[in-house]
Amino acid sequence: MSNDSAGSAGAATPFFDVCDLHKAFGSNRVLRGVDLRVPRGEVVTVLGGSGSGKSVLLKHLVGLLRADAGEIRIEGRDVTRLRESEWIEERKHVGYVFQGAALFDSLSVYENIAYPLREHLDLDEEQVARRVAECLEAVGLPGIEARMPAQLSGGMRKRVGVARAIALEPRAILYDEPTTGLDPGNSRRVGRMIRDLQRRLDVTSVVVTHDTALCLAVSDRVALLRGGRVVEAGSAERLRGGGLPRIRAFLEGEEGEEDGDATTAPSSASPRDAGGVRP
Ligand SMILES: Nc1ncnc2c1ncn2[C@@H]1O[C@H](COP(=O)(O)OP(=O)(O)OP(=O)(O)O)[C@@H](O)[C@H]1O
Ligand SMILES: [Mg+2]
Repeated sequence: MSNDSAGSAGAATPFFDVCDLHKAFGSNRVLRGVDLRVPRGEVVTVLGGSGSGKSVLLKHLVGLLRADAGEIRIEGRDVTRLRESEWIEERKHVGYVFQGAALFDSLSVYENIAYPLREHLDLDEEQVARRVAECLEAVGLPGIEARMPAQLSGGMRKRVGVARAIALEPRAILYDEPTTGLDPGNSRRVGRMIRDLQRRLDVTSVVVTHDTALCLAVSDRVALLRGGRVVEAGSAERLRGGGLPRIRAFLEGEEGEEDGDATTAPSSASPRDAGGVRP
């Protein structure tokens, strides 16, 4: 495996440091020794076919799943065996954008975004309202507080999901398939928003996707998950310069097979992905 993470960022502690992570569900060995370093302040994209364990990996970073073996560090702190009560505190600092947005359909946009604020902070209603407005502004949807989730397009739902994830001003944001099901225009908008949030809030971001265009648009670094391991990782610059051959092949749709769920290999990616990688 190639990994150039010990480079320009110097010896700084990575935000997330995943070392030899293993996770099985019964006989299904999903993660078989994942190594992944996510430098502070960067956008790292994790690619991999459907069923390769991308969502499983993300869930370990917020303690929604527990490792069988290996180690996870957040800003140098070993979180692998934290208790649930300790994870509740840790999760305030790591926003999670669920695959499919996962808004509460019976609550307005306002109440969806206010939810984590009410849960974790002791704010008066005026402060909550101000924070909700700021979050909607940040995702490019100012003034839609009163709408219900059913009244939103898919792209808007995803962005409201992001607004909710940033409500507590997290130091990191995890995006699970933020563009799946979106048209190219909305996908580009979500990509721009990811970069924008990273720049303005200086957050560390992990993006899980098999969207080629998104990967090329947002990443500082890219890692490919296959067979339960990160088989290749490196900077987006190296990728653009013609390096990282396995990742290039994946993005070009040339490496199809997955050990996990062979029925939905990356070749099922949308037609607009077919253009492949151009330096
Ligand atoms: N809670 C769970 N219990 C049992 N098996 C699970 C659980 N979560 C995930 N799996 C299994 O782990 C494997 C990886 O799932 P995961 O959701 O991480 O895939 P993925 O890479 O995110 O795929 P997709 O691109 O389709 O979202 C699959 O075989 C899945 O069935
Ligand atoms: Mg997934």
